[in-house]
Amino acid sequence: MKTITVLVIVAAVASSVQAANCGVVPTQFALTSFISTPSPPCIGRQLCISVSGTLNTPIIEGSKLNIAGKFLNHLVYADNYDLCKLLADQGTPCPLPITTTDATVCINVKTNAPPNVGSNVTFAAFNGDGGTIWCEETKGVVVKNC
Ligand SMILES: *[C@@H]1O[C@H](CO)[C@@H](O)[C@H](O)[C@H]1NC(C)=O
Repeated sequence: MKTITVLVIVAAVASSVQAANCGVVPTQFALTSFISTPSPPCIGRQLCISVSGTLNTPIIEGSKLNIAGKFLNHLVYADNYDLCKLLADQGTPCPLPITTTDATVCINVKTNAPPNVGSNVTFAAFNGDGGTIWCEETKGVVVKNC
């Protein structure tokens, strides 16, 4: 099955971590599950996320994945990706049809990620049509040197 991987670190954090939609509506992808490996995320290493859900709009070229980590309102981590490139790397090139229910994407956790600190991370995916695919903020994301 194909997977739409929009959330990157969300799944990698402890069960005590609170994840919530950013409040952006409407979204094009309704998430039902995700798996992230490894957990916790390792600085400088690959992190892969697999998600399942329902897509109401095809994901097309020009889509982006933006990750921003904040610690007490200071931006401590930022990374932006071409979402279609990430998907293509996993064998699911855009466009992704609305029949897509599963997808995986992998990124490398940047080496300047602050270790052992619980930061609030926003994951936002925007479609090439300008719509929001998904936006979620996860509180207390901890990345490690591992
Ligand atoms: C995360 O957000 C909450 C508010 O939802 C805030 O109280 C907390 O200080 C934030 N944590 C960090 C590390 O910025």
